Amino acid sequence: MESTPEKLEMLYEGKAKKLYATSDPDLVICYFKDDATAFNAKKRGTIEDKGAINNRMSELFFGLLENAGLKTHFVRRLNDREMLCKRLQIIPVETVVRNIVAGSMAKRLGLEEGRELSFPIVEYYYKSDPLDDPLIYPEHAILFEWATAPELETIRSLALKVNEELRRFLDGRGIILVDFKIEFGRYHGDILLGDEICPDTCRFWDKASRRKLDKDRFRRDLGDVEQAYQEMLRRVED
Ligand code: TMP
Ligand code: ASP
Repeated sequence: MESTPEKLEMLYEGKAKKLYATSDPDLVICYFKDDATAFNAKKRGTIEDKGAINNRMSELFFGLLENAGLKTHFVRRLNDREMLCKRLQIIPVETVVRNIVAGSMAKRLGLEEGRELSFPIVEYYYKSDPLDDPLIYPEHAILFEWATAPELETIRSLALKVNEELRRFLDGRGIILVDFKIEFGRYHGDILLGDEICPDTCRFWDKASRRKLDKDRFRRDLGDVEQAYQEMLRRVED
C-alpha cells in the first residue's frame, strides 16, 4: 500500500464536498458530504449515505475511464468518504453532455423530456454561483480567458469520450445515461477530468421502466431518494 500524505487544512467547502490540502502539494483529499442542494442551494436537504455512495461510484467510474486511457484526477479511495486526488487548477466551465432531452434543456427549449437526440450535444456553463451557472458559448470562455481554444477542443473531445465509455458500461447494466456534468482542470500542462461522477451529476434512467435513479428524485420530490442512490451503486458494482 502506498503511503498516504498527511491531511492538512481545509482549502474549500462546496455544496457536496470539502477539499483538504495534504503534505504533498500535488495532492488533495476530497471529502464527500451527505448534504444535498438543488437550484443553486435554494433547496437543501441530506441524502443518507450519499457521501459514501458518491465516493465509491466516482472511484468506479474514474477507474473505468482511466482503463479506457482517459486521464482523471483520481488517485485512490482512502475510506468511505474520502478520495485522494491530484490537485487541479479548476477551469471555471462546467461541461454537460446530453443524449436525451431532460432538465434545463427541456425547459429552455419547450421540449418534452425523454426525446432521444440523434447525436450527443456538448454544452458549456460558466461556473458561477452568483450567476446561477449560465449557459455560454465556448467563445465566451475564450474571450474572457476562462479556457484557451485548444483547451476547449480537448475538453470537448474528452467529454464525448467520457460519454461513450459511460454509456456503453451503463447500457450493459440496464441503465440509460441521459446526461451528465463534468469539470476539468489543469495539472502540470495536462487537462484532467476532475470533480465527481455520481447520481448528483448525472441523470440515470432504468432502461426497462425509465424510472429515475438520480438526484432528480430529490430535486423534484419524487421520494425513494436513498433507495435510488443505493440501487445505482449496486448496479454499477455488479
Ligand atoms: P440540467 O439539465 O439541469 O442543465 O443538468 C444537466 C446535467 O448536469 C444533469 O445530469 C445534472 C447535472 N447538474 C450538475 O451536476 N450540477 C448542477 O448544478 C446542475 C444544474 C446540473
Ligand atoms: N448544484 C446544484 C445546486 O447548486 C444542485 C443540482 O441541481 O444539482 O444546488
